Amino acid sequence: MRSHYCGHINEEHLDEEVEVCGWVHRRRDHGGVIFIDLRDREGLVQIVFDPDIPDIFATAERVRTEYVLRIKGKVRDRPEGTINTDLATGKIEILGLDLEILNTAETPPFQIDIDDDEVSEELRLRYRYIDLRRPRMLQRLQIRSKITQILREYLDHHGFIDVETPMLTKATPEGARDYLVPSRTHQGEFFALPQSPQIFKQLLMMSGLDRYYQIVRCFRDEDLRADRQPEFTQLDIETSFISEEQIMELVEEMVRELFARVLEVPLHKPFPQMTYAEAMQRYGSDKPDLRIPLELIDVNDVMQAVEFKVFSGPANDPDGRVAALRLPKGGELTRKEIDDYTKFVGIYGARGLAYIKVNEVAKGREGMQSPILKFLPDEVITTIMERTAAEDGDLVFFGADKASVVNESLGALRVKLGHDRNMVEHGWRPLWVIDFPMFEYDEKAGRWISLHHPFTAPKEKHIDMLESDPGACMSRAYDMILNGTELGGGSMRIHRSEVQEKVFRNLGIDEKEAEDKFGFLLNALKYGCPPHGGIAFGLDRLVMLMTGAQSIRDVMAFPKTQSASCLLTDAPSEVSQEQLSELAIRLRKPVTEDTDS
Ligand code: AMO
Ligand code: AMP
Repeated sequence: MRSHYCGHINEEHLDEEVEVCGWVHRRRDHGGVIFIDLRDREGLVQIVFDPDIPDIFATAERVRTEYVLRIKGKVRDRPEGTINTDLATGKIEILGLDLEILNTAETPPFQIDIDDDEVSEELRLRYRYIDLRRPRMLQRLQIRSKITQILREYLDHHGFIDVETPMLTKATPEGARDYLVPSRTHQGEFFALPQSPQIFKQLLMMSGLDRYYQIVRCFRDEDLRADRQPEFTQLDIETSFISEEQIMELVEEMVRELFARVLEVPLHKPFPQMTYAEAMQRYGSDKPDLRIPLELIDVNDVMQAVEFKVFSGPANDPDGRVAALRLPKGGELTRKEIDDYTKFVGIYGARGLAYIKVNEVAKGREGMQSPILKFLPDEVITTIMERTAAEDGDLVFFGADKASVVNESLGALRVKLGHDRNMVEHGWRPLWVIDFPMFEYDEKAGRWISLHHPFTAPKEKHIDMLESDPGACMSRAYDMILNGTELGGGSMRIHRSEVQEKVFRNLGIDEKEAEDKFGFLLNALKYGCPPHGGIAFGLDRLVMLMTGAQSIRDVMAFPKTQSASCLLTDAPSEVSQEQLSELAIRLRKPVTEDTDS
C-alpha cells in the first residue's frame, strides 16, 4: 500500500512520487491550503493539499485527527522559512495528489503529542492502544526489541541454548505469593505460575545442556511499585562447570556490549565489587546508588557512654546501630523540611531523626544548633565532626535503632536527599554486590529465611557451619546493581543433595515437606548433577533504565496497575458458574455491608 514510511522521506526523495499510509497527527487549514501531518511508527511528514484538485481537496477537508489515510504525492522542498529542523522530514513536504480515507476515528481521549505525565496513567492504560501511538512509547518498545535482540545475539554467540520451561508448574520459592491456576482434570488441585524458572534451569544443567538462557515471563503476587509488576520478564541464564567469577565476567561483558551498542556508552571495565557488609555499612542498602555522594558513618563507639538513651541504647545493643549522615549545605533546610524528612524516615520504622546544624565548626558546641547537643560531651561532638568531615553550613542527621531500621531509614533518606538536593551525579554506576549472608532471621516468623532462594550454595568454607551458626554463613550469590536498581541476581547452586537437605532444614522445611515440594529436585541431585550457577536479569528494569523511563510500566506494552489489574481488558474478572462447576470451585459470597438482612 505504500512506498515509504512517513518518517523516512527526506531531501533524497525530492521530485519523486511517493505513497504513504498513517494517522492524521494534525490538520491545519491555511487560507485555502490544507496541511496534514501524517504519522506512522517511523515519524511525521507534512502533506499539502491545494484547491487545484477539487475532489481531493474536498476529501482533505473531511479529514479529522487520527483518521487513517493513504496518500500519494510528490516530494518537494519546503518554502523558505518553513523548514523545521526538529523533524527528520522537516526540509521537505509532499504535495498531495491522491487521498484515500482508509478509516475514520472518533476524537481520541487524549492527544498523541503529550508527555507521559500530562494525562492520568489510568486513562493511558485504559486506552493503551492509543497511548502506544505516542512516539515516546513506540520508541521505548523499539529499544526494548533492540535490547532483546542484542542480548540473544551475545548469548547465541557464546554457546547458550534457548529453552522454554513450563508456565503451568509447581510453586517456586522466590519469596512472593504464587498465582494459582485451578486444574479441571485434577479437581481440587492447582498449578502455580512460575515466580522464576529456577528449578527447571537447574534440571537442564543436570541434563547436560551446559549453557541455557531464556527470555521468560515470571509471575509474582507481591506489593507493586514503580519497578515491580505481577508479571514481568527475566533474562534467565544458567551454566555448568564454570566459577562465579567467570559467570560474572561473562554477563558483565554482555551488559557492557549492550550499553555500547544501544546507547554508545562505555561502562567501566571491570565493574567494581562491594561486599554486602560494606554496602550496608556505607549506604544502608544492598543496592546502593553510587551516583549519590552521601554515606552513612558509624558512631556507635562514641555513643555508648552518652546520657541520651535514644543513642546509648542501640550503641550498646549488638543488633543496634547509631549512624550519622552528613548533608553538605544542609544548614539551609527549613524546620518544615526537617520535619518532613523526620516523617519520611518514619515510614521505615525510625522513631525520630536527630540532627546537628553546623554553623561554624571551629567554634565547637557554640557554633552548632541542635536539640540533642545538651546530651553530648565536647569530645563526642568533636569526634562526630571529624568523622563526618562536616564543614560550616552542613547538617548532620542521626539514626539510632536496630541496625535494620537505621539502614533502611537512613539508606532511603540518603537517596531522597540526593534527589531533592540535586546531588545525583550523571552517568552510569554499575557494581556487583557479593558475599551475601545465606540466611536472615525473620523475627515475625521466628525462623531463618533465605536471602536469595533456597538453592543458593553456601561458601565452601561455611558448609560445616550451616546448622551450628546459620547467621554467620555466607553464600556464593552476586547481584548486579545499576544506579540504585537491582538489575539482576544470581548465584552458584547447591549441587549435592545432603547440602540441599541441610539448607531446607535450616529454613524450617522438614523432611516430609521437602519431599512433597522438592522431592523431584532432591532426587535429580543424586543422578549426576554438575556444579552449576547462573543469574537472572530483570529485563523490564534494564529497559526502564536504558530508556530513562520512570516506571517499568512505561516499557511494557500492556502492564497492570498498582492494584494488579488490567484496565484495558478489565482483567481479572468474574467467570461463569459453568466454568466454576467444571473446576469444582464454589465461591464464598463476598462479605457485604448490607444491614437489611
Ligand atoms: P530474583 O528474584 O532476584 O532472582 O529476580 C531476578 C531479577 O528479576 C527482576 N525482578 C522483577 N522485575 C519486575 N517486577 C518484579 N516483580 C520483579 N521481581 C524480580 C529484578 C531481579 O534482580 N531465580 C533467581 C535468579 C537466579 O538465581 O538465577 C531469581 O529469580 O531485576
Ligand atoms: P526527643 O528526646 O524524643 O525529643 O528526641 C530528640 C531528638 O532525637 C529529636 O530530633 C528526635 O527526632 C530524635 N530522635 C528520637 N529518636 C530517635 C532515633 N531512634 N534515631 C534518631 N533520632 C531520634
